[in-house]
Amino acid sequence: MENAALSLARGWIADARQIFVLTGAGISAESGVPTFRDALTGLWARFDPEELATEEAYRRQPALVWQWYQHRRELVSAAQPNPAHYALAALARQKSITLVTQNIDGLHQHAGSEHVVELHGNLFANKWLDGCGRCDTVPPIPGDPPHCALCGAMMRPGVVWFGEDLPRVARFRADHAAETCDLCLVVGTSGLVYPAAALPGVAKEIGARVIVVNTQPSALDETADLVLSAPAGECLPMLWQQEGA
Ligand code: APR
Repeated sequence: MENAALSLARGWIADARQIFVLTGAGISAESGVPTFRDALTGLWARFDPEELATEEAYRRQPALVWQWYQHRRELVSAAQPNPAHYALAALARQKSITLVTQNIDGLHQHAGSEHVVELHGNLFANKWLDGCGRCDTVPPIPGDPPHCALCGAMMRPGVVWFGEDLPRVARFRADHAAETCDLCLVVGTSGLVYPAAALPGVAKEIGARVIVVNTQPSALDETADLVLSAPAGECLPMLWQQEGA
């Protein structure tokens, strides 16, 4: 990472009035959170994500899918936020920002970020599949998803599965952030998964500057005005004042 690029980014961030931050799996890499595919190791190695992360798969094999999510919850529970998560929480105390994440690990919130827009849901949230509206749980059989005592509906993980729409409020807030920012900071995303990947382009179209932080080339490099090729946990703390520094 060149000093000139860092200084440029620092100046743009300092001058910005409204910042839209979009994060992806890369920001949690230094926390040791396994990505979707990385979590498919050991006993889970023989499965495809499409076999596990769809409503159809859940209806077909609820215990299997539920156990896979329990496994991922355990992996994420062992992870701590890293300096990149803390840096974004510090930025929100200095500037007006909207933090939009594709991650489901909750690490931004653990680092102190508030009002995080979770485009793909949260690993620790649950909701009812075909619930009756008054659902109440019966004590679950270990390994099985909990069921509603009244209607028998199953509980399901509160994440966005393949083929599902993004949560409406999160989508609205993310679109609004992209449409109203003057700086867009994209951290640790491959830029391959839509509709999230389209948001930096929206920001660019309305005249915002776009900065990409990634250890590798990404599909959003073409949209970027500046690419910082560095690990997020090293780069972000250098871009603005950290508390106590
Ligand atoms: N710092 C910055 N970037 C990093 C780091 C790091 N330490 N480590 C990895 N990266 C980058 C990679 O180079 C890659 O471009 O993070 C990106 C991660 O890309 P993906 O794994 O595709 O994650 P993401 O873009 O969040 O995927 C979007 O796809 O798997 C689904 O629903 C899942 O939310 C996820 C969505």
